[in-house]
Amino acid sequence: MSRIRILPEAVANKIAAGEVVERPASVVKELLENAIDAGAKTIRVEVEVGGKRMIRVIDDGHGMTHDDALLAFERHATSKLRSADDLLSIATLGFRGEALPTIAAVSRLLLETRDEAEAEGTRIEFAGGKLVNVKSAGVPVGTTISVADIFYCVPARRKFLKSDTTELGHIASLVTHYALANPGKQFILTTPTQEIINCPPTEKLADRVYQLFGRQAVEELVEILAVSAPFRAAIAEPELEPQEEKSSLTVSGFTSRPDIQRMNRNGIYIFVNRRLVRDRLILHAIHEAYRNILPPAVFPATLLFLEMPYEEVDVNVHPAKIEVRFRRSQLVHDVARDAIRQALMGARPIASFAAAAAATPQTAGSGNGTFSGGITPAAVESGVPRAIIPPMEEVGGGSVVGSDGGFDLTGAPLRPVEQRIPFTSGTAFGAGVVPVRTSTPGNWAANLAAPSAEAPASLPRTEHIADLKPLGQVSASFIVAVNGEGLWIVDQHVAHERVLFEQHLEARRAGRVESQRMLMPLVIELSPRQIVTFEKIAEELFANGFEVEPMGPKSVAIQAVPAGVGAPDAEKLLTEILDGIERENAAISIETLQAKIAASTACHAAIKVNTPLEQSKMEWLLDALSKTDCPMSCPHGRPVVLRYSMKEIEKAFHRI
Ligand SMILES: Nc1ncnc2c1ncn2[C@@H]1O[C@H](COP(=O)(O)OP(=O)(O)OP(=O)(O)O)[C@@H](O)[C@H]1O
Ligand SMILES: [Mg+2]
Repeated sequence: MSRIRILPEAVANKIAAGEVVERPASVVKELLENAIDAGAKTIRVEVEVGGKRMIRVIDDGHGMTHDDALLAFERHATSKLRSADDLLSIATLGFRGEALPTIAAVSRLLLETRDEAEAEGTRIEFAGGKLVNVKSAGVPVGTTISVADIFYCVPARRKFLKSDTTELGHIASLVTHYALANPGKQFILTTPTQEIINCPPTEKLADRVYQLFGRQAVEELVEILAVSAPFRAAIAEPELEPQEEKSSLTVSGFTSRPDIQRMNRNGIYIFVNRRLVRDRLILHAIHEAYRNILPPAVFPATLLFLEMPYEEVDVNVHPAKIEVRFRRSQLVHDVARDAIRQALMGARPIASFAAAAAATPQTAGSGNGTFSGGITPAAVESGVPRAIIPPMEEVGGGSVVGSDGGFDLTGAPLRPVEQRIPFTSGTAFGAGVVPVRTSTPGNWAANLAAPSAEAPASLPRTEHIADLKPLGQVSASFIVAVNGEGLWIVDQHVAHERVLFEQHLEARRAGRVESQRMLMPLVIELSPRQIVTFEKIAEELFANGFEVEPMGPKSVAIQAVPAGVGAPDAEKLLTEILDGIERENAAISIETLQAKIAASTACHAAIKVNTPLEQSKMEWLLDALSKTDCPMSCPHGRPVVLRYSMKEIEKAFHRI
């Protein structure tokens, strides 16, 4: 039975169509999407010379009938869309009817396919967009498309292709994305000399992450347990009520522990109804979730899956289908933010000595064997060329998002430090991370047999922080403490900062921030920009314990500050708050503003380093810290405690 039809012109014109073939990875993307849409269970991708010589995608999906196989190469021929109305709720990855004709126009293409209803399959050959051969062929049910010599007839384009390893890196990254989004399917990626990815079907996403990135990656993540929210919450119009029960948004996935810090957003993957998308709104939600947990200029690694009714999201807004528009964006934003925040608060893991050292932004990415760090040593051993990873400049620096889904969400230039570190960005959740498995088939098979049985080593969690007994201070700055878990070092300044931050925020929410009058009002000069910011937030400052009066066009008098802040800190605190808010040039939410004020106030009121502390004061501080929501990092994202676990101590002394 024929599935494919040519879209009427009126429908075709409503589709955001455009360039679909930019590089070999774009071809892989389109062919993978077609295979997934055809219900394939196993998808095999074979590439030669970075995909420049050959890309072959073999699937066991429903295949095409003889007639459909020919029709598929017409423009606007699709089985996935009938009318313009269908555009409002697209359930498939493809819908434009553009990909195959476009790929056939720039390559030598061979299609072999069979629909199960037909006894014989079909073989069709195209060269430079021209049909050169059609015949029947004995092929299994499913589809194999071989694309050879991409751009052979468009030499100008061919010139723009990067090195073979770079192009292969993009392909590997892409297959990794689709494998993450479809754990129930098997994905295989091979070159003539190696198997780069081979992940059999799994039930759980965690197992798929493990297959693709290894155990350490799983240990670096906390799971975002599926959180569902009815769209009802945002529905203002009563006529939408009847379908509210079915209409819900589910957010799930994985996100990195606070001690994992990335210098860019390349470790963030957002899937909406299993489609990898680039979305500023969700990025913002992720950023918000980590506010006061991660320092401002670093990023987590996050795999976020949003599932929602198809009509809640418009996918027809970008020619390469990588941007979407949510119908109820605020709700989607808030649910995503809260789900991540909840996962982080629930796990509350604490850095071990080694992890904390590796987490400093300067070294992030140079670690081994982690998706935040890059390629595993075993991958290098396996002979996988290191350069399989697209070079930094291309991954992080370009603002262009290719139709291969090569995502650079930042648009921001990379810091020089990163450019010295190989593999930082391209590898995360992406290219090059997988070959480790192929080098040790024995282990690989064993690992797959029980991927989740090998539970991640237990991470220290906040409850383990309880009952700390302080032994003393190092340099009058760091408290050394012990409990049954092992040996701990606590940075006294940031620990107190975390305690005060949470107390201040709570008091602010209850409208009870205590304030302390200055003996003499302190008159300070502000810049014109600071004055503007001051006027904008004067009320909120007052609610946070400040009393500040304007004194002429350029000055203000500080009469009172939040309790605990000493007079010498008053000026610095106020200007720091004003400057910090000024930098957030966009409108900032009230929560953000409050958190910023609380963080600055806590910083200025907290015990300083180089301050000797009595035993009772140390005991009080450790106890107060153990009662905070987030004792692992200060409001600016720095680690608060380090732990040397009993196991690590025993190991170091060769007792175990
Ligand atoms: N691997 C496949 N298995 C079965 N049918 C396929 C396969 N690849 C393509 N087709 C059929 O060919 C049609 C055309 O494919 P093509 O990729 O050009 O367009 P599309 O997937 O409908 O939309 P888009 O351009 O957004 O990808 C599809 O609608 C589908 O019916
Ligand atoms: Mg398609």
